[in-house]
Amino acid sequence: MKTVHTPCELVAELSHLRYECVDDAPRERLVGFVPTMGALHQGHMSLIHRMVAECDVGVVSIFVNPTQFGPGEDFERYPRTLEADLKLCEEAGVDLVYAPTVDQVYPEPFLTSVHVSGLTEDLEGAHRPGHFDGVCLVVAKLFALIRPHRAYFGEKDYQQLLIVRQLARNLDLGVEVVACPLIRDDDGLAASSRNRYLSPEERERALCLFRALTRAKELYEQGERSVERLEEAGRRVIRETPGVELDYFVVRRAGDLKPFPEGKVEGEGRVLGAIRVGETRLIDNMPLREPTIDTGTGG
Ligand code: PAF
Repeated sequence: MKTVHTPCELVAELSHLRYECVDDAPRERLVGFVPTMGALHQGHMSLIHRMVAECDVGVVSIFVNPTQFGPGEDFERYPRTLEADLKLCEEAGVDLVYAPTVDQVYPEPFLTSVHVSGLTEDLEGAHRPGHFDGVCLVVAKLFALIRPHRAYFGEKDYQQLLIVRQLARNLDLGVEVVACPLIRDDDGLAASSRNRYLSPEERERALCLFRALTRAKELYEQGERSVERLEEAGRRVIRETPGVELDYFVVRRAGDLKPFPEGKVEGEGRVLGAIRVGETRLIDNMPLREPTIDTGTGG
């Protein structure tokens, strides 16, 4: 595995990895990409393992991107664990890691912005103004440099996944955005680099988000389709937990995160929540899908 720190080194290294000789002719290999901000956990590793299994060349970026953090957010204290991250990437069979500095990514003067409208205004966008512009900017730059065939994103950041897919489509970036399931720790907490901030007591309280999502999902599976009742059942679980602030807990259409027009879940839904526990902000979500009926006919 190679680690590079500048755009120039990245492009040079990739040009070697991208082509192989088959019968004396150059053949392009399938390039996979997992963008990360480091502090790798089992959620990231599930994306990385899938990329390595599915692609000929596996690239990971590690960059704590300042433009996606708002004033007063945790950019300064975000965990930076490069050495441990590189070891994990190497063990997983990654070919190339790109770990640039802020100056390499945003050389002065930096005058360009990237904005995806519609999908970015609500939920995380409403609570973290400018966050998705920062995500779209850095992802567009990484896609432009790496030109991956496939990029792997976790469903933990479900809104981000839909936005990046839209970005890739609208800018004709030629990359398939692959959605990978959210990974949970044994107690149910969604894997996140920010879980490192939680004291054991805070972690216990943070689990109310998982319980609230589970409650809404159970009710849905029992036949409840009223968005209001599903949301209220989840919000109650969070409100009953002391020391937790609720940012949002909503049921939306899975495809575009818009509210269901009649207030009834029809087709695939997604229940999404965000809470604050002490200084830490956490997000999580679950799918609401009609159970598939097993006819027992096999195949
Ligand atoms: O999901 C993340 O870790 C970040 O938003 C990403 C996609 C690496 C961009 O900085």
